[in-house]
Amino acid sequence: MLTLKTLLLALTGAGLALAQSSSQFCDSSSGICFQGYTDPDLDVTVGFVLPPLSTPPSNEFIVQLVAPVTNGYTGLSVAGTMADSLLFTLWPYNNELILGPRWTSGYVLPTAYAGPQITLLPSSTINSTHIKATFRCQNCTAWEGGSLGNGDLTSFGVVAYVVATTTEPSDPADVDSVIQEHDDFNFFGLDLSMAHSDSYSSYIGGSVTTSAPATSTHPTTSSHSSSVVSTSSSAPAATQTEYGQCGGTGFTGPTVCASGLTCVAVSPPYYYQCQA
Ligand SMILES: *[C@@H]1O[C@H](CO)[C@@H](O)[C@H](O)[C@H]1NC(C)=O
Ligand SMILES: *[C@@H]1O[C@H](CO)[C@@H](O)[C@H](O)[C@H]1NC(C)=O
Repeated sequence: MLTLKTLLLALTGAGLALAQSSSQFCDSSSGICFQGYTDPDLDVTVGFVLPPLSTPPSNEFIVQLVAPVTNGYTGLSVAGTMADSLLFTLWPYNNELILGPRWTSGYVLPTAYAGPQITLLPSSTINSTHIKATFRCQNCTAWEGGSLGNGDLTSFGVVAYVVATTTEPSDPADVDSVIQEHDDFNFFGLDLSMAHSDSYSSYIGGSVTTSAPATSTHPTTSSHSSSVVSTSSSAPAATQTEYGQCGGTGFTGPTVCASGLTCVAVSPPYYYQCQA
């Protein structure tokens, strides 16, 4: 059986042109337009959008990953390989999205990776059929052993995704849970030259309801705070509206929800949202 590694080796040069490649799609619930691909067989959608090209280059992007809610987990490789790539794993647990960055140097279990700063954006949802994570990833264009587009953000990148349909994370409450090998995967060519958007700042600004700058706190994916967000009532504070963010790593906005709303741990420790 071909491994991902040998497949990618076989796909160098002219072969890559035969692989499926990205096109633009827009997410109706967030209005964010991505460069990406929908896999009709695995029912996985992956999209990327980057800030406008600048000097020095920005180190962030927004990713959308949509997959069947029945998958044990869905994984994403930003550089198309398992080894030396920034990876993400995503699965649902108790109606929460469990999303985290991982990394591995070889064909062994990828473990939690510190460095990327992840902020889930409000269009992230779980419904009866799909899990959809839309997230801003800062400090994400380069990582140990690699970089997006090999450092050229106008080139073609190869993005891979994997699905585990028959196994579940052994501890699904834990973003760093041990996972079993995926049972299927595919990949596409990501045209980075088409992935930059002048609307990028509105994509992140319009979705995070805080005027305060994010702190430089890094998400420590291995340390899990409780899913209860402290809502100190001693100081008068602005309250957050429905679907607004009310907590999470680096979040400095209001942590108190407006009357009748509850601060729900959508993806602890990254993102908490006011819901009715
Ligand atoms: C960025 O991520 C790398 C790992 O890819 C990490 O070593 C570095 O400390 C991070 N930098 C910041 C400023 O968070
Ligand atoms: C569930 O979410 C997916 C992905 O966002 C969407 O395509 C689908 O229409 C939704 N299904 C229902 C029943 O709302």
